[in-house]
Parts: sequence; structure tokens; C-alpha cells
Amino acid sequence: MCGIVGILGRHEVAPLLVEALKRLEYRGYDSAGVACIDNGRLERRRAVGKLINLSDLLVRNPLPGRTGIGHTRWATHGPATEANAHPHMAGRVAVVHNGIIENFKELRAELAAAGIGFETDTDTEVVALLTQKYLDEGLDPADAAFRAIDRLAGAFALAFIFEGEDDLMVAARKGSPLAIGHGDGEMYVGSDAIALAQMTNRITYLEEGDRAIITRAGARIFDADGRPVTRPVERIAVDDYQIAKGGYRHYMAKEIAEQPKVVETVLESYADLDALRVRPERFGIDFAATDRVLMVACGTAFYACQIARYWFEQIGGIPADVDIGSEFRYRDPIIAPRTAAMFVSQSGETADTLAALRHARDRAARTAAIVNVETSTIAREADITLPILAGPEVGVASTKAFTAQLAVLALAAIHAGRQRGHIDAAREAELIGALRELPALLSHALALGERIRALSEEISLVDDVLFLGRGPLYPLAMEGALKLKEISYIHAEGYASGELKHGPIALVDETLPVVVIAPRDALFDKTISNMNEVMARHGRIILVTDPAGAREAGQGVWRDITLPEAHPFVAPLLYAVPLQLLAYHTALHKGTDVDQPRNLAKSVTVE
Ligand code: AGP
Repeated sequence: MCGIVGILGRHEVAPLLVEALKRLEYRGYDSAGVACIDNGRLERRRAVGKLINLSDLLVRNPLPGRTGIGHTRWATHGPATEANAHPHMAGRVAVVHNGIIENFKELRAELAAAGIGFETDTDTEVVALLTQKYLDEGLDPADAAFRAIDRLAGAFALAFIFEGEDDLMVAARKGSPLAIGHGDGEMYVGSDAIALAQMTNRITYLEEGDRAIITRAGARIFDADGRPVTRPVERIAVDDYQIAKGGYRHYMAKEIAEQPKVVETVLESYADLDALRVRPERFGIDFAATDRVLMVACGTAFYACQIARYWFEQIGGIPADVDIGSEFRYRDPIIAPRTAAMFVSQSGETADTLAALRHARDRAARTAAIVNVETSTIAREADITLPILAGPEVGVASTKAFTAQLAVLALAAIHAGRQRGHIDAAREAELIGALRELPALLSHALALGERIRALSEEISLVDDVLFLGRGPLYPLAMEGALKLKEISYIHAEGYASGELKHGPIALVDETLPVVVIAPRDALFDKTISNMNEVMARHGRIILVTDPAGAREAGQGVWRDITLPEAHPFVAPLLYAVPLQLLAYHTALHKGTDVDQPRNLAKSVTVE
């Protein structure tokens, strides 16, 4: 939700902190700030809004020092003001924080009772004030920070620096990820390895409850009970091209365009495309010994799971359920022992999904993380990881991760069907053959960009849009609505097309665009009859179909988007592309910030 970084450097660190924060802006960008120690003196600079505002401030009012911490914020407590921007300071202490201190109100009351005042509305300020309180009681900086950390409940990744301490940083991790970077005579901390990629690829991931005392000579790490522990130094491969925009105007445009290659990578990793069969050894789940598949996720990943539910039942021959991460554990779900529980998350850090994994971990037979970040917390805590191999996804709106998740889930469903004897080798070959055609089909869909750009100009003028679909295209309709909402700020809803007549059709008039997702499949006739109900009430139909569908039902529609003919199995992946492009181009027309939409963050690491 926020991004934190710290450097014990051999050169001036303020510019380096800002560079690292740029790689963390996807986690939040309401405000940003840095604090540095220069010859023992602690100072900070903070700015509201995007990181560029902090950069400007540092040009006008430079901040010297070779020890520093930085933060880019997604506001959880207190509005996005300079006063609420991190780093937060109290006396000799400066601290940056990602997460939520759940007991901050009690701690504020305790500090107020001790006559200590507050300057901000944030939860983080209590961390600085508590640490300073323990310094005043005579503890040394690291012990004071550790004592404060022991008082905290909730989720946090923290980094502290101290006035008078040019060679000291304290860090802690509980519920929010934190990495330590090892340089040559320098040391770093960051919310993830990408933030540190320009400085080092030697990374130590702190485990849950770890805290560290860091100097330029290295890091001493302790577990939650204060026992010294050793954590491995890993070499992480994150190259700059993967992170750069690659010549595209936005990361989202690049990531939409990468989908043919990404899907091909997934297919080659999990299937033998010559023999037209899955690679059983890639899945690590014995579906023959499994009674039920449970999938848990949030947002776009949740819609991917809802699509996969059709596949696990129809192809896998296994009962399948899907839950929203933030709801799952609060409904006291019944998790039978022979359940395969899958947690789908691009970032692998979504707090709601992680909490669901922790709730299911001791109850399910197997927990699987289907993630894009293989070193993420969800991956580290699940029994097995099925990586989606999409490469870094920087745009806040998830695109290539969605189709990559679907590709992995589709292959897992085929694997389940084969293990359970629900489909034979011929059906497996048919389905793998359909997937093998997908990269080329996705490329064709991308070529519709110009047609969709023209259409999106008209969509950018409306206040509401409805998306309709049936079967596995119903969750896709919800995903299409989410894409449009989150980057263009136009209200949109996805509905099962058969559900329209049970209320939502009251919304239909000549001002309402209705996107109907209807390839010429087994449900086409039903969907078109629902479409005709909309047309009878002058709704403006955007029919997303294939050539056969356009021939049969294209007359009289307001607009149509015609995709290449495809096997019904791959339609949810193929039809995602026009919906992504519609959202992207509409947002361009609206002038919103496509890669960093307002109020959002790429990785929601708080509940
Ligand atoms: C998708 O476009 C959104 N940015 C959001 O719904 C996202 O899918 C959700 O927060 C889950 O993130 P995750 O996949 O990293 O867990």
C-alpha cells in the first residue's frame, strides 16, 4: 500500500532514495518524503502528491546526507497532507512505515496521558513517539526501536534512522514485505527487490516478525522473540527493460501488448505443446486425491478465479468454489481436509488474500499460490507456487496478469480432468490445441486498438456503462466493468445477461451503453435474446462477438467489435483484450492517470 526505502550509502543518498521510490510509486502516490542524517543532524523533506513534487522540492531545497529513508504513501489514516506524509519524526527518530498499526489509538492515549502531543492524524506517528520515549528512558536507539516494535499490533514494514547515528538503520517486518539489500560498503532496505534493483541484486527477505540492526558492515537479524537468526542472501534477477515502459506511453499499454508473449510463456512452461498435453509435474497437486477446489482472491484475480470455476467443474470434474479474500475468513468457511486451496494474487502481497491463506493453511490438504512474484509472501507461505510468469506488472490496472492467471488456471483444470479421468487424452489435446492458438488470436485482438479507440471517445462522454456476459464470460463482464471503473472513473457494472430482466433493465434507456460479450457459442442465442430486450428499450449495444455472431446479431447494434473465431474454451482470455483496450482508450480520452489512477495502489497490503 505504501513504499518504503532506506540507504546507508557512500554517497549523497537523497537522489538515490527518490530513484528507488519511483519504483515503488505503484504502491501508492498520495505523498512522498525523505529524511537524511548529515554529520549526525537529522532533517527531512516531504511533498504532497506524486514523487515529482518531492524531486522538485529537493532541487530547491537540497537534503545532504549519506544515511536516509524514504516513503511514498497511500493514505490509510489521515488525509494526504504534508503533515501526514512520511517520514514521521519525534526528537531524534525518523521512521517510515508500510501497513496499519491497529492499536494506534490505545498507544496515542497512553502517550497523551504521558503529556506527549501529536502533529499528525496518522498511526505511524505513534511509532516515532514511542521510540523517542524509550530513548528518553535511556535505551540505545536499536533497543528503543525494538521496544516500540514490541508494542505494535497490526501490519508493518518499518525503517528507522536516528539523529547522531550516521551508520545505523533499524528495520522490521510484520505483515508487510521488507527486503534488505547488500551493496559494496552500502546497505539498503526496500518494500521489494525492484526498488533496490539499481543498487544491488543481493537481497535478504525478512521473515514475519523479523527485525534488523543494519550498518554499512551488514545486517544483524533477530526473530520476534529477539533471537539472532540467519536469513539467506539471494540474487534476484530484475532487469531494467522489464521495468521500463519499452517505448509505450503507459505501462498499461505495454502490458496489454505483452499478453501474446506472456500467454505463450505460460503455455510452454506448463504444457508440452507438441504432444498437446499438460506437464503433470508442474502442478504439485494430486487432484485425484482432492474432493474440492477452493480459490480465493481479490479484484481482477477474483474474476479470474470465477472464470476458472467453470473450467474446474466442466473440465476438471471437481466441485469448485471461489471467495473474495476480504470475506473468506469471516464467514468461518468449512474446509474439508481433501481441499485444494488456491490463492491467486499478482503481487502475492494482498493482505486480504494472505489472511485467507493463513486461515486455510492448517485446514486444507494443499495450498497453492498462483502469483506473479515468486518471492512474495503468499508464495513463501503456501505449500506450492504456480508462477504466472507475466514479468513485472507496473500498471495499477491488472491486464497481462489476468490473462496469465487464466492460462495457469485453465491448464490446472485440464490437469485435474486428466488425473480424475473426467476428460480423455483426445479432449486434453483439443483443449491444449485451442490454447496453443491463443497467442496469435490475442495479437489479432490487439490490432483492434484503433477501432476501439474511436469507440471509446463516445464512451468517455457517458456516466454509466453495463457489461453483460453468460457462463465464463459473466465474470469477464465484471472484469471489464472493473477495468473501465478503475482507470476512467466512469461507473460500470458487470452482470449475468440473464439477470438483466430481474431489475437492472430498469437502467436501460438511449443514454446507456451496454457491452454484450457474445461469441457464437452455446449460450449465444440466450445472450442475444437478452440483448434484444435492451435494444427494445433503446439501449446502445456494443456487441463484442466473432464473425458468425456479427452476421447473426450485428444488425441494428450501436457498435460492434468483432474478434477472430476461437474455441469457446479460450474466449475469456481472448475477449479480455477488447475490454482492456476500451478501458485504456476511454481513460486517455478522459485524461485520467492510466498507470496510477486516483485513490488506488497496485498492491493492497492492508485490510
Ligand atoms: C485490478 O485491476 C486492480 N488493480 C485490483 O483489483 C487487483 O486485482 C487486486 O487488488 C488484487 O491484487 P493482487 O492480484 O496483487 O492480489
